[in-house]
Amino acid sequence: MSISSDRLKYFSAFVRREIGQAIDANKLYLIRTRLLPLARSQGIASLDTLIDMIRRDERGALARLVLDKMTTNETLFFRDNYPFEVLKKHLFPTLVREKGLSGSIRIWSAAASTGQEAYSIAMMAKDALAGAESRVKIIGTDISAGAIDYAQQGLYKKMEVQRGLSAQHLRAHFDAQGSQLWQIKANLKSMVKFQQGNLISPMLASSLKQHGPFDIVFCRNVLIYFDMEQRKQVIDAIAQVMTAGGWLFTGAGEMVTGNHSKWTVHRLENRPVWQLAAK
Ligand SMILES: C[S@@+](CC[C@H](N)C(=O)[O-])C[C@H]1O[C@@H](n2cnc3c(N)ncnc32)[C@H](O)[C@@H]1O
Repeated sequence: MSISSDRLKYFSAFVRREIGQAIDANKLYLIRTRLLPLARSQGIASLDTLIDMIRRDERGALARLVLDKMTTNETLFFRDNYPFEVLKKHLFPTLVREKGLSGSIRIWSAAASTGQEAYSIAMMAKDALAGAESRVKIIGTDISAGAIDYAQQGLYKKMEVQRGLSAQHLRAHFDAQGSQLWQIKANLKSMVKFQQGNLISPMLASSLKQHGPFDIVFCRNVLIYFDMEQRKQVIDAIAQVMTAGGWLFTGAGEMVTGNHSKWTVHRLENRPVWQLAAK
């Protein structure tokens, strides 16, 4: 099904403005594969009609649903492994030295998707820190309301727990629900909160104030969707809600050179991890 060029132009600008994602002509397939099933399920005859409906009501439920569909929520437990090793071997011991045995440790999983990253952080904290349940506070945010609902439920499919989780973590932190579903246990769940949040919104820092300042931020595999200027803005906004000397994980190659004066790069577990300068 084709999309007229003026509608494509409007829709690309709308998605970029709302969630920061650039859709060029090479990514037309993304629009088709994600929005055609949605249009059909809503009884909307064509993608042109769908786009016209969004244009008439950009704040409406249909427009929100469409933006949700344009996000890519691919994730897994303990993705890339090294950030979790860095937490256990380097950052948790450092923070315990700095804060003593009871000071709280605040961690933000920005672009948390369906929650696997935030729950992996919680599992690692429980493995590595005495009293983790009461002292480690994790917040996961994502622009996708659907992903955040899923994360909040903490109910994962067999296929999802088979990606990245050890048998030991599965036994310790999940209860089987029948043969196909696994529920995160309440004590792990209590360490993690989720809320919707747009990384390119100017309200981001204020919406997170009550949960911060953060000692550690995970902002992985999302900056890649933004252009350089937006990446710089997002990294500056993250710095605003972090403690001086706080730590940032990005995805491979996602950091922007323009931010380097504020940040020191450390190689931990043989990979780059960023530390915010002391104020
Ligand atoms: C590929 S997933 C990465 C999930 C996780 N951080 C990881 O590395 O496994 C990217 C996530 O970024 C979210 N996202 C995209 N644009 C966003 C924005 N402007 N603000 C917040 N989250 C966004 C998507 O909804 C998606 O869940």
